[in-house]
Amino acid sequence: MTRILVTAATGTVGPHVVRELRSRGAHVRAFVRDPAAAAATLGDVELAPGDFDDPASLRRALDGVDHLYLSAADGHRKVAHETAAIDAAAAAGVKRIVQLSAMHADTASPLPVFRWHGEAEAHLRRSGVPAVILRPAFFMTNLLMVAGGVAHTGRLGGPTAGRRIAMIDIRDVAAVAAVKLMEPEPATGSEPETGSPAGTYELTGPAAVTFADVAAALTEATGRPVQALDLTEEEARPRFAGAGLPSWLEEHLVGVFGVIRAGGFERANGHVEAITGHPARGVGVFARDYAAAFTPADQPV
Ligand SMILES: NC(=O)c1ccc[n+]([C@@H]2O[C@H](COP(=O)([O-])OP(=O)(O)OC[C@H]3O[C@@H](n4cnc5c(N)ncnc54)[C@H](OP(=O)(O)O)[C@@H]3O)[C@@H](O)[C@H]2O)c1
Repeated sequence: MTRILVTAATGTVGPHVVRELRSRGAHVRAFVRDPAAAAATLGDVELAPGDFDDPASLRRALDGVDHLYLSAADGHRKVAHETAAIDAAAAAGVKRIVQLSAMHADTASPLPVFRWHGEAEAHLRRSGVPAVILRPAFFMTNLLMVAGGVAHTGRLGGPTAGRRIAMIDIRDVAAVAAVKLMEPEPATGSEPETGSPAGTYELTGPAAVTFADVAAALTEATGRPVQALDLTEEEARPRFAGAGLPSWLEEHLVGVFGVIRAGGFERANGHVEAITGHPARGVGVFARDYAAAFTPADQPV
């Protein structure tokens, strides 16, 4: 059976990747910094304690591994962390890396996270390890950052200029990753997927939606009125600045909404359904499943 190592297993997407793989009967090992906390999140799964900054722990975790799911936290160490894991995987003879990247990944991007993803992708392509690169659009779970405010005020604000976003549910990102991690190797002599368009997938939800559509879905799911509020960039900036985020993340978020206003997330595609065999989840499903987060604590859904 294919042995799969999952990094960032306790992050946003990773636990869903572990769950998807296990439900498909895969042999999973999770690379984690805190085994006790990971066991509480992931349940009964093989754990490989380690840190991207500790090369010996990467070597131990990759021993006997066939395929690697690679993601590292955004931040100034992201490229160093992914590079270390790719180099260790190449040395260990890993046969495929499925890398979580992002739509608009580009080494020349002015947005820090998109630039880091571009650099990490470039290192993977250079490594020669057969690769599948997943480039999701805006995650629906980003909305959880403002869920408390929505519950409190009944308003969903954002500097989107009413533009549509083909936002995706992270459970669908994880399902695509699991399918790609469990696919057999390319037949001997065939072209590796690295660098070929076939190996890089932009992933979106089923349709591009406005914040007004999201507000309508939240209204229906919570039974309380939610209104979309279009902010100008000038109105939004102090909100990002006041949220106590690291400066690179504040800069990135301001930039992401600029990409949204330029229509950069408007194109939905059918890759999730084509790869997993199931339609991608829409905002209605997301709103229903996460309704409690958008509802005041004293008024349970
Ligand atoms: N938000 C969006 O709209 C969007 C869209 C497209 C793509 N993306 C991308 O999706 C990714 C989301 O991240 P994610 O869910 O994979 O992770 P995440 O939620 O950022 O969590 C980070 C994970 O990395 C682990 N970690 C941190 N430092 C580590 C280290 N030094 N060594 C080993 N593990 C370490 C953390 O473990 P601990 O539990 O120990 O902290 C955690 O499991 C990002 O790359 C983001 O750019 C996001």
